[in-house]
Amino acid sequence: MSLIGLLRKQNRKTLFTTPSHGQKLFIFSKLRNLYKYDISETDAHDPQTALHKAQEKVSNIYGTKYTHFLTNGSTSGIIASVLACTNKGDKVLLWRNAHPSHLNAVKLAGCEPVFYDLPIIKGWGIPDKTTPDLLNLNGIKAVIITSPTYEGIVSDIKAIKAVCKNAYLIVDEAHGALYPFSDKLPQSAINIADFTIQSLHKTAGGLNPTALLHVTCDLDASKSLSMINTTSPSYPILASIEANINYLNSARGRRQLNNLILNLEDLRKINFDFGGDDITKILIKKEGLTGYELSEKLFEEFNIEDEKTNEHSTMLLCGIGTSERNLEKLKRALIKLS
Ligand SMILES: Cc1ncc(COP(=O)(O)O)c(C=O)c1O
Repeated sequence: MSLIGLLRKQNRKTLFTTPSHGQKLFIFSKLRNLYKYDISETDAHDPQTALHKAQEKVSNIYGTKYTHFLTNGSTSGIIASVLACTNKGDKVLLWRNAHPSHLNAVKLAGCEPVFYDLPIIKGWGIPDKTTPDLLNLNGIKAVIITSPTYEGIVSDIKAIKAVCKNAYLIVDEAHGALYPFSDKLPQSAINIADFTIQSLHKTAGGLNPTALLHVTCDLDASKSLSMINTTSPSYPILASIEANINYLNSARGRRQLNNLILNLEDLRKINFDFGGDDITKILIKKEGLTGYELSEKLFEEFNIEDEKTNEHSTMLLCGIGTSERNLEKLKRALIKLS
């Protein structure tokens, strides 16, 4: 039975079990279905097998050795990956300004952090890609790369993997969960890196804080995941991951992603400065305006809020759910500003 099927097949037993809301709605009515489907391991028929099968099916879609469903974000996937491939005292190479989960993972594993820096892209004020020459891999047990960056700068993971002779390669692809589903997007690190972690909630339409950990090396991340995960998983959230990947992999999902990309290609025809390697992150700047001024104009004059801004540029994030209406609105605003 699938995870989704598991939830549909509600139990009629008289339960003296967790969770204590008893699938009844009396605390927060807006979450009607969530309470209804919030079951524990004991309430459903063999949920572990359903989870195992769902993960196996998803792993086949991505062509990985193993894909784990994460209900505590990419953060937990990064920590589990470092725990899985290192021993206490090992050296782990990481970007100095990476997401805090990278350093936290190294600390939790009892490893020694070794930092590398990324140059800033001139005129855009954002970190550039990681290249092999920036990585001193002497004595390094694992290296964590962020690709894409928050702003959509993508590294050549194949070239980095080629220099990782004795080091495990962990790629934080938190912002690149749509990549495997379109040839028009950058190549995903899955099946190149040893561990690739993607947030489904950031761009792929998933609920907060759903994510995936893809493993393609011989190591097993299950044990390290069980060290940091709760023993009371949320089956509605796990089932939402199954539904999310089913959707992305369906003809409808691929059509929706393709339409989004076509609309974004159309947007790029406007006479504006666009940057970055990932079209779903609208990275813009305008001569004569700082990034902050551009961001303020978008907000004050057009009621459009961006994701991230610096002195030089502004980034507006799109995902599978970004509507044509909103893109049209942005297009009109950029035309006026240009
Ligand atoms: C680059 C990067 N990696 C990892 C994370 C953590 O992702 P999550 O929120 O899914 O735990 C974030 C979150 O903002 C991020 O920006």
